[in-house]
Amino acid sequence: MTPTFALQSTSSPLHVAIIMDGNGRWATRRGLPRSAGHRAGARAVRGAVEAAARDPAIAALTLYAFSADNWRRPAPEVTALFRLLARFLATEGPRCAANGVRVSVIGRRDRLPAPLVSAIAATEAATAAGSALHLRIALDYSARWAIGAGCLVPDVDLLIRTGGERRLSDFLLWESAYAELVFLDRLWPDFTVADFAGALREFHARERRFGHLPGAAAR
Ligand code: IPE
Ligand code: IPE
Ligand code: MG
Repeated sequence: MTPTFALQSTSSPLHVAIIMDGNGRWATRRGLPRSAGHRAGARAVRGAVEAAARDPAIAALTLYAFSADNWRRPAPEVTALFRLLARFLATEGPRCAANGVRVSVIGRRDRLPAPLVSAIAATEAATAAGSALHLRIALDYSARWAIGAGCLVPDVDLLIRTGGERRLSDFLLWESAYAELVFLDRLWPDFTVADFAGALREFHARERRFGHLPGAAAR
């Protein structure tokens, strides 16, 4: 998908994080299996990554793809998700390399299937030189686990959650201490570049105070 316009530019490079929620409901509403929603969600990921890579204002994008608690789902859904993720890395890895996107995976790897672990390592190696965008994919991720293990990433500036829920579901708890939160009712597979741009506009309309008085210079 080629988005039709660029995202809004800003002065300092941003770390945007997204909780990509709503794939299952998207599919169920269409009478499709949940796995079809995850496939549609993967297409939305491609659009979001390409848009972020083109925007010089966004330095890093962290996407929540599979939480440590998602192991509680039925095994066939988990298996389908891991297969889809491995395929996604195989097809998107070269695109990311071509677009200057460096891909990293955060979260545990010791419980993931071996082919997925190999696909992750191959993608990380193939994209290591990318400097347009650092794409982080959170897989078997738990913020509480990451904090305990000291696996922290840069502070989040803007945290977007699609799918209508207003919660963090154990995502980047430490790094979101001063993140601006944007909750969208849109289900993830329907998330467009226009939605992304709208969330960034909302971000820029807010005053980040970091404890200062209103109007005082932020950090
Ligand atoms: C988010 O969509 C993707 C993952 C958690 C893997 P869901 O699968 O949670 O979709 P809903 O919330 O059931 O609609
Ligand atoms: C959070 O969504 C995890 C991902 C988007 C990968 P969930 O759908 O698993 O979150 P809860 O269960 O509604 O909190
Ligand atoms: Mg969900």
